[in-house]
Amino acid sequence: MSRKVRLSVDAEIRPATLRDLPSLATWSGQVNAVFGPALERDDRVLLVALANGRFPIGHALIDLSGIISHLLVLGGFRDQGLGAALIDEGEKVLREAGVIRSTLMVEKANDGAIRLYERLGYTRSGETAETWPDPMPDGTVQPVAHPSWVMQKQL
Ligand SMILES: CC(C)(COP(=O)(O)OP(=O)(O)OC[C@H]1O[C@@H](n2cnc3c(N)ncnc32)[C@H](O)[C@@H]1OP(=O)(O)O)[C@@H](O)C(=O)NCCC(=O)NCCS
Repeated sequence: MSRKVRLSVDAEIRPATLRDLPSLATWSGQVNAVFGPALERDDRVLLVALANGRFPIGHALIDLSGIISHLLVLGGFRDQGLGAALIDEGEKVLREAGVIRSTLMVEKANDGAIRLYERLGYTRSGETAETWPDPMPDGTVQPVAHPSWVMQKQL
């Protein structure tokens, strides 16, 4: 049995504060290791997208040296322009900090994200192997290298 209810959601994008972390932690595994420490620094801006101004449904981390990372939109809210809006706001933050070039890394296998970045004006400028912890079949978590493109855009 299933029932559908039509919802209408406005997403508000703004810099996160410490108060946003508990609700982000209900679905993100990045809060303790990445987002909490980022909020302590004055060279990082964590952007959150809040559904109806209340609950986080996406984020992007802006490193004021010119790097946008940790772009994510929750599954049920994709393909409606929120990812593009988070990048756009990230670029605005960088421009306001006097940065002239935005850089991001994307896994070579992530066709959807690559398409989005290209549409937003990013071009491939190099490659790298980003390493992050992945769950293994034996239940442990190990660092794994992920072949990635470096993509850049003049702001
Ligand atoms: C990559 C990601 C952030 C994109 O977020 P998103 O909110 O879906 O992004 P957008 O909606 O702006 O764009 C995605 C697609 O929706 C389309 N779209 C945008 N607005 C739309 C609208 N109003 N109606 C219908 N489609 C729309 C875009 O044209 C784009 O189409 P494409 O798949 O043909 O390229 C999201 O898929 C995600 O979180 N993925 C998992 C994490 C990840 O891979 N992050 C990137 C790491 S580098």
